[in-house]
Amino acid sequence: MRISVIGCGYVGLITGACLAEIGHEVSCTDNDDSKIQILRAGKLPIYEPHLDTLIEKNTREGRLHFLANPGEAVRGSDVVFICVGTPPLENGDADLSAIDSVARMIATEGGGPKLVIEKSTVPAQTGQELKRALSVYSRKSGITFRVASNPEFLREGTAVMDFLHPDRIVIGVDDDSAAKQLREIYQPILDRKFNCPAHAGKCPAESPAPIFVTTTVNSAELIKHASNSFLALKISFANALADMCEQLGADVQEVTAAVGMDPRIGPDFLRAGLGFGGFCLPKDVQAFIRLAERVGIDFTLLKATEQVNKQRIDILMEKARKALWVLKGKNIAILGLAFKPNTDDIRFSPALDAARKFLAEGAILRAYDPQAMEKTRKLLPQISLASSAYAAVEHADALVLATEWDEFRKLDWKRVFSVMARPLIIDARNFLDPAEMRALGFEYHSFGR
Ligand code: UGA
Repeated sequence: MRISVIGCGYVGLITGACLAEIGHEVSCTDNDDSKIQILRAGKLPIYEPHLDTLIEKNTREGRLHFLANPGEAVRGSDVVFICVGTPPLENGDADLSAIDSVARMIATEGGGPKLVIEKSTVPAQTGQELKRALSVYSRKSGITFRVASNPEFLREGTAVMDFLHPDRIVIGVDDDSAAKQLREIYQPILDRKFNCPAHAGKCPAESPAPIFVTTTVNSAELIKHASNSFLALKISFANALADMCEQLGADVQEVTAAVGMDPRIGPDFLRAGLGFGGFCLPKDVQAFIRLAERVGIDFTLLKATEQVNKQRIDILMEKARKALWVLKGKNIAILGLAFKPNTDDIRFSPALDAARKFLAEGAILRAYDPQAMEKTRKLLPQISLASSAYAAVEHADALVLATEWDEFRKLDWKRVFSVMARPLIIDARNFLDPAEMRALGFEYHSFGR
């Protein structure tokens, strides 16, 4: 199928590359011309495992194109995926202005009738507005558009595999023809008939065929917000539980491991620590609270989720003050800057929130992250960046482990111990083994253990 993808951010790039990989003819476009130039030069504006291989292969084989002119991309396609950003406004609402501009562009430059699919995360009823906008903007041409919702559930760091091996593909449609077209697009994934990039071409046995869920457009939009909000709720529950464990002499990892064995609860998203960040969970929880308010519902449960999450940084600072007494003038090493491992994304990163607090108290920071240094250098030049984890911890009065990169587990901790001014670790991700660290001589603090 001939597909255009508007927006070359995380969702757009993964969608474009993966749809090309499963056999479609895909044109990706973005109103940020510099992104298109980077992509056309064979480089990537983001770090994401497997994405470089997919883009290189599909561009070379002629199925994937990056076009600076959005009209050209849309005109040559039957189906348009909208993957533009919906960032939070000051009041917490999702900013839908990019969707509106895209609707105008499709209606005026698109050339003919198409199926327009929302992939960006949007509040319920956006599809209705999008349909109305498309019909208003195409008033003169009289072209008609159909609108569908197809929310994306991929996670940064595992995005390619999440796209190709989803648990479910949710489509929200108004008519049978849209459902048929969407099924056709995803058929290779439903049949697991494609070259899986991570497993030497074969799909891993443990990932069964996804479930194809067909709903109304409103329900599909709500499914996405509800999913992210529930994940956030689980994390905040685990974090509040960690605080309880700490007061009561229990170990939160032991507790969540056993609680998660109940299939009604499940083991995932119960890792306590510095809380959730990134460009999705925090903004989606906020937008869902605002959406609830707009329809007269006080979603206190989600407000509490947000509040527990905000407190995580304060709790970290309290631990640091307790251990170090005065923070001003202390050398703090921060390991990890990305909002989670395997990504270079620092948007709403709890690690950076913590760094800002330390800086505000006059601490001297030296940080290291395997992927997120370049982006941090631009955003927070006050942090001195080290070339390795060992260089970051040299002469440090404390080490704060803020993102659980695998690389940190494999560090030579004896060496770390010998180069630090004071062997103090605050493990904000409950990543290291407390007994092991203490046996090496470290003063070791974590959350709820
Ligand atoms: C999230 C969802 O997990 C995806 O399903 C969704 O498609 C995506 O948002 C989106 O809306 O686009 P992502 O933002 O990539 O994906 O990151 P997550 O893996 O969900 O992690 C979010 C944050 O929660 C991270 O800061 C992570 O460190 C934290 N986290 C996660 C915890 O603190 N504890 C956990 O147990 C799990």
